Amino acid sequence: MEILLVLILIFTLLFIATALVSLILRVPYVPTKKRVMLEIIKQSGLKEGQTFLDLGCGDGRMLIEAEKSTKVNAIGYEIAPLVYILAIVRKILTGSKAKIKFKNFFNENLEKADVIFCYLMPAELEKLAKKIKSECKKGTRVISNTFHIQGLEPFKVIQKNEKTKIPTLYFYEV
Ligand SMILES: C[S@@+](CC[C@H](N)C(=O)[O-])C[C@H]1O[C@@H](n2cnc3c(N)ncnc32)[C@H](O)[C@@H]1O
Repeated sequence: MEILLVLILIFTLLFIATALVSLILRVPYVPTKKRVMLEIIKQSGLKEGQTFLDLGCGDGRMLIEAEKSTKVNAIGYEIAPLVYILAIVRKILTGSKAKIKFKNFFNENLEKADVIFCYLMPAELEKLAKKIKSECKKGTRVISNTFHIQGLEPFKVIQKNEKTKIPTLYFYEV
């Protein structure tokens, strides 16, 4: 009985921490759909051995899909505690080699990235644009789900398709 109470307390605290983080960052946890992930991977030009970052990786689905299908070195950052735990559970269940870090990606250097994926809100993306410009090596590709990254110029935009339910996808190169 006491163990159950402790577990409920831990879950409640994690839930509150997750809600607070989402409120402070103003980026809710909204996972990318499977068909969208497959389209992004198809369009990304990812090659085996490249370093693929998902900034705000949610439950890790995009990372794990990319790592499994293209054998990239996949690294994700997630700051919301419960969502991070979901990502770790998914990694264990799928036997993925993706690395998932409980960390604010603004505190990480992006120099190692070959391809960056993000599904974030415009205000955070605008801040990220400055970081990408100052840290990423020439040729690094950046893919944004749904929102344009103010401050970067896309070389390709796949427009939202009502039929296939693929949202607008933005592609950038540093
Ligand atoms: C819209 S979800 C997208 C999740 C995943 N990338 C996907 O496409 O399925 C955005 C995630 O980014 C996380 N996030 C937002 N800002 C972050 C930051 N600065 N550092 C780490 N994670 C962040 C949020 O907690 C949320 O889970």
